[in-house]
Amino acid sequence: MCGIAGYVGPRNAVEVVYDQLKRLEYRGYDSAGIAYRDNGNIAVIKRAGKLSELGKMLGEVPTDAHQAIAHSRWATHGAPTDINAHPHYDAFENVAIIHNGIIENYLDLRDELMSRGHTFHSQTDTEIAAHVIGEEYDKGVPLEEAVRLGVKRLRGAFAMVVVSKREEDKIVAVRNASPLVVGLGEHENLLASDIPALLPYTRRVVIVEENDIVVLTPERVRIVDGDGRDVPVVEQHIEWDIAAAERGGYEHFMLKEIHEQPQVIRQAIAGRIDEQGHVRLEHVFSEHVWSDIDRVNIIACGTAYHAGLMGKYLFEKLLRLPTDVYFSSEFRYGDPILSPKSLAIFVSQSGETADTLAALRLCKERRIRTLGIVNVVGSSIARECDRTIFTQAGPEISVASTKAYTAQVTVLTLLALYIAQIQETAGVRVKSWVDDLVRMPELAEKCLLLEPQIEQLCRRIKDTNLCFFLGRGADAYVAMEGALKFKEIAYIPTQEQPAGEMKHGPLALVQQGVVAIFGATDPYHVDKTMSNLKEVQARGGTILAITTENDSIMEKAAESTLKIPACSHPFLTALLSAIPYQLIAYHVARLNGHEIDQPRNLAKSVTVE
Ligand code: G6P
Repeated sequence: MCGIAGYVGPRNAVEVVYDQLKRLEYRGYDSAGIAYRDNGNIAVIKRAGKLSELGKMLGEVPTDAHQAIAHSRWATHGAPTDINAHPHYDAFENVAIIHNGIIENYLDLRDELMSRGHTFHSQTDTEIAAHVIGEEYDKGVPLEEAVRLGVKRLRGAFAMVVVSKREEDKIVAVRNASPLVVGLGEHENLLASDIPALLPYTRRVVIVEENDIVVLTPERVRIVDGDGRDVPVVEQHIEWDIAAAERGGYEHFMLKEIHEQPQVIRQAIAGRIDEQGHVRLEHVFSEHVWSDIDRVNIIACGTAYHAGLMGKYLFEKLLRLPTDVYFSSEFRYGDPILSPKSLAIFVSQSGETADTLAALRLCKERRIRTLGIVNVVGSSIARECDRTIFTQAGPEISVASTKAYTAQVTVLTLLALYIAQIQETAGVRVKSWVDDLVRMPELAEKCLLLEPQIEQLCRRIKDTNLCFFLGRGADAYVAMEGALKFKEIAYIPTQEQPAGEMKHGPLALVQQGVVAIFGATDPYHVDKTMSNLKEVQARGGTILAITTENDSIMEKAAESTLKIPACSHPFLTALLSAIPYQLIAYHVARLNGHEIDQPRNLAKSVTVE
């Protein structure tokens, strides 16, 4: 999710790439850097903090560099410090590279390189990649060949840009599941991770395809495939304005982030499942600690709290580990009873939510073990927890959280499997869960295909003044998150709870015109959910069911049915159902003409009590 920029041509290259980075600021950043040509060497400047910190260094940089690459970082490995900022050099400073994405096998590669005498300055996976490409380059091959051979040794999802000391006016880049776009100019060419960074310079772009390697010189753009064969350079003309381009052509950031979820799941599991299908989590407690834990408390706010509910479901069902979920604001003032053997898990997208941070500090005072599940590397919660697992979802801009939720639940699932693996928990077939997780991105893509049907359906429900969100088991927890999205942006009152509770009160609210959305993806609960559906229908409610492609029960009764693909583990199918809920909230809000990315009265990060 980092920003990438590159320029080769007659202009002041450092100025151009810095300007490009500014246009990528909406992607989020925690540090930034530039590599440029200087007297036959590749010089590097880099700084932690806002882009303006790097801007302060530009005065010291010569104005006659005609080749530069630049990067704004959104950390995934290693804290956001000056040293960890990109670009990174290889062992002999012959090449400098910047990188967006994750190198999954970087720990193995680091050991291998260290055994050959390599030393490293940073904690990043990028520096490892620089050394790998540097080793290939030292064999005397052209830079594009070194990149091609080097990349074969890397596993993961990344886009990478490389310059070398030996080859002036040449930039080489490779794409592997992370976006990369070339901008075509007159006697100049550019590169970026996203189109907005190119638009002030050119509207002629080339989208780099998977596994292709692109070679930029001022007069030419050449593309070769992973086997080194030339492939055609296909030019496109961009008509969008800059604001639309920042959203990747989507009308709102929320919609863009909903659509990013297949990739987000891929990133959340990247590097965490090895080739044998085992879950590998770095930087968590050592194995014996897990056996000592007698209870888990999950503490969070808002959407992260809903992710916590899913964690509870799984920890109890899979591990038989007693788990409670608390709102941070209640926990911190609630004088909680904490077993010395318990583990407190703090789930937070921003890592800065005031109540969650205060709850964490309370646990630390009481000497309870703490684990963060956090998106923003370098945030307070990430730094203060004993251990932190990053969700690797990239910056989330829309106030209504979508992709962060999916990533949080994915990470909680990995954690539960990791513990099951260590404890050899009876009845848990980790391999079959892992197989499901690996398929999830593809299944999430299928859920997104429901969007036209959802849009049509939203036209029918957009004027309701009450919407129920109901389900059983994990479906009930995802329905709660669906209801939160709906309130946040559609501004329509909701009533959400396990469907079995309807007759204990909420059923009194049902009358003609109310809408009830039933999540019924778990076959184990379908019959019971069906009875609840009938109760609501008999009293005049309009019924929408979210169910699976295998369902033949709910569709008979519901007015409308959204069918999603089923995983082997119903818990993961329920997680996928978050996507239709998010799209329902989005389309109702949009049809009613609401502000989507910044809903009234709400903030992305709540750093006050
Ligand atoms: C705010 C945001 C929500 C988010 C909650 C917790 O209310 O609008 O989207 O779920 O804070 O934030 P955190 O950053 O701790 O996950």
